[in-house]
Amino acid sequence: MHLKTIAVLALLPVALHAEEPWGKVDLQTAKSLHDKACTSCHIRMYGGDGSKMYLRDGHMLSNKLELLQRVAACNAQVSSGWFPEEEGAVAAWLNQHYYRFEN
Ligand code: HEC
Repeated sequence: MHLKTIAVLALLPVALHAEEPWGKVDLQTAKSLHDKACTSCHIRMYGGDGSKMYLRDGHMLSNKLELLQRVAACNAQVSSGWFPEEEGAVAAWLNQHYYRFEN
């Protein structure tokens, strides 16, 4: 087999199982984490349950990585002491429920 072909084949599994930016996370915990730490400001700004924050027109996020970074930035403001896995879980949960980014 041609060397180049071998190299391409070796890379294939990586491409097929592209990692989520948040890795493997436990979605079970995400909603309660979110509801505890993340709604106060958003409700103050938008009322209701605050979810309009994630559904507003012209939001600045365009992919999973930006969503994760936004979660981390907001989380830094509340000093909730979350682990990175918990930020990841909430980002993944927000994506599943609101953003639905594929990339
Ligand atoms: C201290 C107040 C505050 C808290 C607490 C807070 N946020 Fe935010 N959040 C904001 C503000 C303000 C914005 C909008 C920023 C802007 O418009 O530039 C925002 C925007 C966001 C967005 C982007 C919305 C969009 O699509 O445009 C996400 C996602 C988000 N917050 C997630 C979270 C998560 C997850 C938590 C809990 C860890 C959290 N926020 C806690 C103030 C807060």
